[in-house]
Amino acid sequence: MSKWVTAYAPASIGNLGVGFDMLGLALQGAGDRVSARRVDSTGISVAEVRGPDGKPHPALSTNPLENTASIAAQALWDAQSEPGGAELRVFKGVPLQSGMGSSASSAVAGVVAVNALLAKPLPIAELLTYALAGEKYASGGLHADNVAPSLLGGLVLCPPALLPATISLPVPTGVSAVLLHPELQVSTAAARSKLATRYSIDQWLEQQGYLAGFIAACAANDINLIRDTLKDVVIEPQRSAAVSCFVEVKSAALQAGALGCSLSGSGPSIFALAEHHHARNIASAMEQACSMTGIECQSWVSPMTAPGAYVETEE
Ligand code: HSE
Repeated sequence: MSKWVTAYAPASIGNLGVGFDMLGLALQGAGDRVSARRVDSTGISVAEVRGPDGKPHPALSTNPLENTASIAAQALWDAQSEPGGAELRVFKGVPLQSGMGSSASSAVAGVVAVNALLAKPLPIAELLTYALAGEKYASGGLHADNVAPSLLGGLVLCPPALLPATISLPVPTGVSAVLLHPELQVSTAAARSKLATRYSIDQWLEQQGYLAGFIAACAANDINLIRDTLKDVVIEPQRSAAVSCFVEVKSAALQAGALGCSLSGSGPSIFALAEHHHARNIASAMEQACSMTGIECQSWVSPMTAPGAYVETEE
């Protein structure tokens, strides 16, 4: 039997409010781990899936056709025409259906671990295509706004029309991300299926302006322009009602000084961007507002430069 390779892949904030399906940010402090080793049997198998408590995960399957880590790893294995197979152990640190890119974290950790077993490992950016195969299984759509930041770290622009190319963007200094996870679940696939398929030209113009302005603001380190552009007038209004604490949490974040606040991915998590010195207070205000609605929650404060996936151990 070969060595076990363990890879870590962080959670992520999909859409980052302004860039539906094409902008994402890696999050520090939460992530999945996948361990992989070569085996003689053919293809990718899953030996176990464990939750944060270390026990077998109650909701996730070890069927390799139903786990994003193995689906992604199998896509990579097939593309490299590797003989034999690999066995995976998946350790979930990211809550399911949380809007924190849970399926993407597993897919990315799966490909990064298995890549290290290959005779000729690929450069990390080339793994995106394979991680996307896992993400597509979970969300039903081809979007890289969780997979790309989880793989590459930081703030990544990944328009579907340009995939597999992605663009790592400069981030403003002095700005942190705050993420609040309310103890609710939202299925990304279901949330995507409910979105309107037609939009007015006014909506398109407005949102396009915010996205362009936000990217320029990040590059120019322009805090006021971030505040003016971190807005979602298209997707958030269609999804926020599914997150019962959203109005209260967003209002608390903005009152506490957040530069902007919106859903993380399809929710239920809610993120805010904030100047560093306000970030902890904003996280507390968001937690308090969420608790007042009777929903338990957890929050993270992360730099906008959180690293992407990496091989943690080989033993
Ligand atoms: N861009 C995706 C969506 C992210 O909003 O549906 C899902 O986490």
